[in-house]
Amino acid sequence: MSNIIFVLNGPNLNMLGKREPGIYGGETLETIGEDCRSAGAKLCLEIDFRQSNHEGVLVDWIQEAGSRAKGIVINPGAYSHTSIAIHDAIRAVSPLPVAEVHLSNIHAREEFRHHSWVSSVATGMICGFGSQGYVMALHALAARLEAAQQKGQG
Ligand code: DQA
Repeated sequence: MSNIIFVLNGPNLNMLGKREPGIYGGETLETIGEDCRSAGAKLCLEIDFRQSNHEGVLVDWIQEAGSRAKGIVINPGAYSHTSIAIHDAIRAVSPLPVAEVHLSNIHAREEFRHHSWVSSVATGMICGFGSQGYVMALHALAARLEAAQQKGQG
């Protein structure tokens, strides 16, 4: 099996570029996808980059990653703060490594963004570095994957 990484994006992230650029930056989701694919190529990762505004679709994709992918990068958007279904889906595909990413620093914003249901079940979380966080997450997953493969567990 090749090293497929699902990069999943939740609600309203299709609006990047137009949406609150002072908070989320001016890059579009399409450009972030290209950044991920070019970082992935250097790290020998095949990137499957997707976005949905629907919670159940994200749950379906996490389940699909459980059988097809070697890891997940997920920016769950506002579902981070509300979705026990996404929390449970990540638990269901354990021990698949999951990197949670947020463009903004959720801890420096409104209090309702401080808690994420995803963080406690993710392998790790990166926030506040804009689109660079996605690339950082891919590097982290690639290093983990390489370590697991060296131990014969990948
Ligand atoms: C976000 C932060 C969330 O609080 C927000 O609802 C988003 C984007 C981020 O990338 O900073 O939609 O996940």
